[in-house]
Amino acid sequence: MKFFDTVEMAPPDPILGLNAAFKADPRSNKVNLSIGAYKTDDLQPLVLAAVKKAEHQILTEGMDKEYLSQDGDPEYVKRSIKLVFDIEQDNIFGAQVPGGTAGVRLAGEFLAQIGGQVIYIPDPTWANHNHVFTRAGLKVASYPYYDTDRREFTKSRMVEAIKRIPTGSPILLHACCHNPTGIDPTPADWKELSTAIKTQGLLPVFDFAYQGFGQGIAEDAMAVRYFLADGHQMLVANSYSKNFGLYGERTGGFYVVTTDPASAERVKSQVMRIIRANYSNPPLHGSRIIATVLASDALRQEWEIELAVMRERISGMRRALAEGLNAGGSSVDFSFMYKQNGMFSYSGLSETAVNRLREEFAIYMPTNGRLNVAGLSPKNLDYIVEAILAVL
Ligand SMILES: Cc1ncc(COP(=O)(O)O)c(C=O)c1O
Repeated sequence: MKFFDTVEMAPPDPILGLNAAFKADPRSNKVNLSIGAYKTDDLQPLVLAAVKKAEHQILTEGMDKEYLSQDGDPEYVKRSIKLVFDIEQDNIFGAQVPGGTAGVRLAGEFLAQIGGQVIYIPDPTWANHNHVFTRAGLKVASYPYYDTDRREFTKSRMVEAIKRIPTGSPILLHACCHNPTGIDPTPADWKELSTAIKTQGLLPVFDFAYQGFGQGIAEDAMAVRYFLADGHQMLVANSYSKNFGLYGERTGGFYVVTTDPASAERVKSQVMRIIRANYSNPPLHGSRIIATVLASDALRQEWEIELAVMRERISGMRRALAEGLNAGGSSVDFSFMYKQNGMFSYSGLSETAVNRLREEFAIYMPTNGRLNVAGLSPKNLDYIVEAILAVL
């Protein structure tokens, strides 16, 4: 008997699938602008110096490899809570999780367990949100976030939509560097959103994957910290994949802000059970690196400088791309890119243009036209500008 004959081929992941196609492409001039990973000016992956020093320290200390508890290393969690929320409060439960994706998934599973049915996510959003929440047992609905014609955040339509979301529903928010558009609400917008969400009685669920990639560590945490100060209960998933370059180490956090320490304890007991039945406990290495860096004034300072270098290289390349396209006589004015934050630029390129870029120029990006600005460098910029102008 063949057990697997009826298993159908799953569709490729919209982003990881492209990455595989890129790797298989034999053309030497190929450019990968698909997956959200930082690259240097030489288009090489970067391991931060602060991370290398922390790893050295960890190795010399000869730490053991025992299991962590389900919610991870308490020192790491404590420092993560401080980085995300700026304050420690005993009504906040935090757990170390294997990357931002696991934090989002845990949020979904926990919501499903406490009776959540539908989560409201922005349109557009990170391609994986729909999939993760559906797998976690929730239904997914969307709210308007982006005005495609004006290429900006549509606050009025979002606030109107919030008024129609059933009270008690979870609503997913990108804390900063909205993926894929790169367009974030302003601090004033966030205050208005906080009021609208509170008035409607919704539960904010923040996906915080890019702290430090937008304007700065504190600036990017403004929304989460403001919502906390404004009295919201909420869920937050954060990731150290991007801001520490720890992509493959799977390092992140999941936090639940409750009303009181007793609720936090009860929430903890349930989340621990979900984790135990899932991956049992998180991996050690990434969290040790983070805890080591955040515990040392010198390493933390070095990390902050390295983070700023990454942030500034990205914004410089975004500016150079927009300027190059405009100077090349593009029919579209690309100045809108200046307002975008974080790793991505929502280029507005059509699916046809994206396909032509891949087929004719070996330039890879998802069909929604979201390009990874960190994949641009002085080495490939002119080629990319010319190619985009050719397919416009
Ligand atoms: C919005 C958003 N959330 C979560 C993640 C997942 O991060 P991680 O790689 O840490 O799982 C990403 C990564 O691309 C992202 O863009």
